[in-house]
Amino acid sequence: MKGLILSGGKGTRLQPLTYTLAKQLVPVANKPVLFRVIDTIREAGVREIGIIIAPHTGEEIKRAVKQANFDAEITFIMQDEPKGLAHAVRTAYEQGFLNDDERFAMFLGDNVIEGGIGALITDFDQHPEWNAQVVLKEVPNASSYGVAVLRPDGSIERLIEKPPVPPTNLALVGIYMFDGRIKDAIYAIQPSKRGEYEITDAIQWLLDNGNRVYPHIHQGWFIDTGKPYDMLEANACVLEELTPAIAADAVIENAQIDKRVTVQAGAVIRNSIIRGPAIIGEGAVIEDSYIGPFTSIYHRTTIRNCEIERCIILEDTNISNLPARLQDSLIGRNVTLTRNGTLPRAMKMNLGDHSVVYVE
Ligand code: DAU
Repeated sequence: MKGLILSGGKGTRLQPLTYTLAKQLVPVANKPVLFRVIDTIREAGVREIGIIIAPHTGEEIKRAVKQANFDAEITFIMQDEPKGLAHAVRTAYEQGFLNDDERFAMFLGDNVIEGGIGALITDFDQHPEWNAQVVLKEVPNASSYGVAVLRPDGSIERLIEKPPVPPTNLALVGIYMFDGRIKDAIYAIQPSKRGEYEITDAIQWLLDNGNRVYPHIHQGWFIDTGKPYDMLEANACVLEELTPAIAADAVIENAQIDKRVTVQAGAVIRNSIIRGPAIIGEGAVIEDSYIGPFTSIYHRTTIRNCEIERCIILEDTNISNLPARLQDSLIGRNVTLTRNGTLPRAMKMNLGDHSVVYVE
């Protein structure tokens, strides 16, 4: 079976970060979301993986994936415009990654889920008569997702993409299994109101045309990392399940480090307190600071004389001497965030479009 990961799209909800970074490369617990998806697929025994990319972020994704050197055969598939998830699948057929009668697993490259998918793939493999399988999860805010209505016997009756008034709270998680019938479906459907070829509509077409579509109810957590809050939530969940480790070459002097803290190679921690779960990246420097739970400090970032809690701080950033605790924040790469002088009298900022600053 092949795996298809959708890593194109625009990522507008994560701006300003995604003006300069593909949303699928934003790290949770110091690992890009896309890499987690690739690992999940590999762990399920799938080696042939196609990754849908977009023109503005494709090169960066290619570079990052190649550098990470996964033990997999990876094909990059350029989708010229973000015309929807079904359009992405169509592109994979048109560029020859998918063959007509082939069964494949599809993943959204921005979803973070708990646990593996080996059982799901085996389930679909053992039922050659099934045309598709979708993963569902009960959520409190179903109107933000594709939503499923089930029949009393548990099979799927219908699917609706982001209904304003959801008929159930069963959301489509970004994992789908298909056989070759999906090709007919994606060529048959029309664009939705938001102008996209929806995979939800394609699966509805399968249902309307007598195909067998089965649900799999996901028991663990699942987060669509569409917005900054979701990123922080995913970061917290993944940090919770990380097995902590302190790299042998990390330098730790006069520091209190909780059991649930991971310190990566070459990091330096001095005169500081780190409360887990948290992760300090390769070559990062933490001095005279407090790093609170659910924080990920990425590679080569420096934190001096600060309190930071429940944040994701990306690589090569310098944060120092902040007059108050920095919390619930997503900070990009190469950012400088500092205070000059002892008494804060004025603030000077140079922020990208759509930045949000709360001084509390
Ligand atoms: O997260 C689960 C939800 O994902 C489902 O419940 C919905 O039914 C499904 O439509 C989808 O909704 P989103 O609005 O969250 O999809 P988004 O536009 O965020 O795209 C998901 C991934 O697919 C993301 O990695 C970008 C990629 N993508 C998206 C589009 C529109 C592509 O590769 N090509 C595209 O044309």
